[in-house]
Amino acid sequence: MLSEAVARAARERSEQERERQRPVTAAEPIGVLDTGFRTALSRLDRAGLLARVSRTVDFDLEAAAMMKHHDAGAALLFESVKDHDIPVVGNVFATPESSEAAMGLDRDRLRAALARGIRTDIEPAAASDPPAQQNVWRSGEIDLGAQLPVLKHAPGDGGRFVTAGVLIVRDPLTGVRNASFHRLQLIGGDEVAVKIDHGRHLGRALDHAVEMGQDLPVAVCIGTDVALIYAASTMGALMPESRDELCAAGGCRGAPLPVAPGVSQDVDVPADTEIVLEGVIRAGESVTEGPFGEFVGYASPAGPAPTMHVTAVTARDEPVYHAINGAGRETIVLRKHVLEVAALEAVRPVTPIVSDVCMPPGGLHRFHLVMALSKRSERDNGMGRNAALAAFGALKDLNMIVLVDDDIDLHDPDDVAYALATRFDAASDLVVLPGMRGHEYVRTSQAGVGTKAILDASVPFESRADFERISFAAPSGDELDAAYSGTTVLSWLGEHP
Ligand SMILES: Cc1cc2nc3c(=O)[nH]c(=O)nc-3n(C[C@H](O)[C@H](O)[C@H](O)COP(=O)(O)O)c2cc1C
Repeated sequence: MLSEAVARAARERSEQERERQRPVTAAEPIGVLDTGFRTALSRLDRAGLLARVSRTVDFDLEAAAMMKHHDAGAALLFESVKDHDIPVVGNVFATPESSEAAMGLDRDRLRAALARGIRTDIEPAAASDPPAQQNVWRSGEIDLGAQLPVLKHAPGDGGRFVTAGVLIVRDPLTGVRNASFHRLQLIGGDEVAVKIDHGRHLGRALDHAVEMGQDLPVAVCIGTDVALIYAASTMGALMPESRDELCAAGGCRGAPLPVAPGVSQDVDVPADTEIVLEGVIRAGESVTEGPFGEFVGYASPAGPAPTMHVTAVTARDEPVYHAINGAGRETIVLRKHVLEVAALEAVRPVTPIVSDVCMPPGGLHRFHLVMALSKRSERDNGMGRNAALAAFGALKDLNMIVLVDDDIDLHDPDDVAYALATRFDAASDLVVLPGMRGHEYVRTSQAGVGTKAILDASVPFESRADFERISFAAPSGDELDAAYSGTTVLSWLGEHP
């Protein structure tokens, strides 16, 4: 009995070891993926990860409050929204589990698809009869606040915001197409303010348009192809300005993204989109935008923003409106997998001992990175810190990297804290890097310039034996079942009143 348990424990350990050795971006082919938004919703539904709210919910604060309250759980489909006949879906990608289920992939295979998008260009293809244009409203027929269930998210927000729109533009100078998320505040029936942070490629395209004395044609895609959603969420050195993000979405899908020309603007619109706002961002026109509850959990203040004049609204039959809370889990989880893949792509070629990475929730899946190292000899000592510098270079928003050995489960924040508690000495293992560029929303920074840190909780190769973790033989399944059902304990204790 005992030897069987020991043998099973040994088997499990070697399986764990094999799992650890497995390349993180799955090597097996993932083929062509169906990345349609509707497909994603139906996958969530089948997985029990789409909860329906059938009573009427107010677009003014109520829907967003429910999304916030439930954003560690299933996606929410608000079937009836006050004064509107279009349902709202929220929290679609609010947890890693939902993100993986929406694509029908496990973590490794989702990472493999995203890595393929980072590496591969597949040109979009022309779609006939695009669902996105089954219904069309043109200038004179547009009243965004009445037509769409645009939410007011938090009481301190400056108004109603479109929050899940992927903006597609073609840079008038370079000809490169860009896709990125930007919130839009409703200003008038056919006018919105566009929030463009410092350094965004959309901002560069707009600058080029201004220099050329032109307006910038744009398509805002709400509820769109999931590969495009991920391309639009990818930032940093791995998705440079020169990269066409419609081609990157094709790379991720493993097939061209079907697109159609806009009905009122010279822009490419993904055929599989629920709702599209076409228009122009006007050169030199600005309004006051905000405040808005941001992903960092604080409000961004009101400030000047360019305006978009909407020239057409198109929608598929019976569309669903996708909404994302700014200060909610969906905004940050949308970046988790893409940034992990970007970190792996940046560090693996220079430091192959990095066996896995994790962007933990406590760091908003953006500011903290945990990196696992598989040191093979003393020559690998110190390589983790080199890898950390490569990651800081590729992902400027990172402000802390924790290095652990590969016997730590880096996806478990408690195990990472265990490594820090037992393997980290601040005098020798803390590397402080002041005066580095990070994210301007980090309030301890000076407009984005602040301190980065490496916390090296990995042990030197030659000391690993001193840090061998206690392992127990696994109990047999039967014994465990009995213990958990309480029968073993009760029979031993006897009956007590
Ligand atoms: C849900 C969501 C909302 C976002 N909202 C904004 C925004 O309002 N303004 C902005 O500048 N960036 C926003 N971002 C970040 C950019 O879309 C993102 O960093 C993108 O990769 C930038 O694209 P670029 O590399 O083509 O500039 C948002 C990201 C997400 C996931």
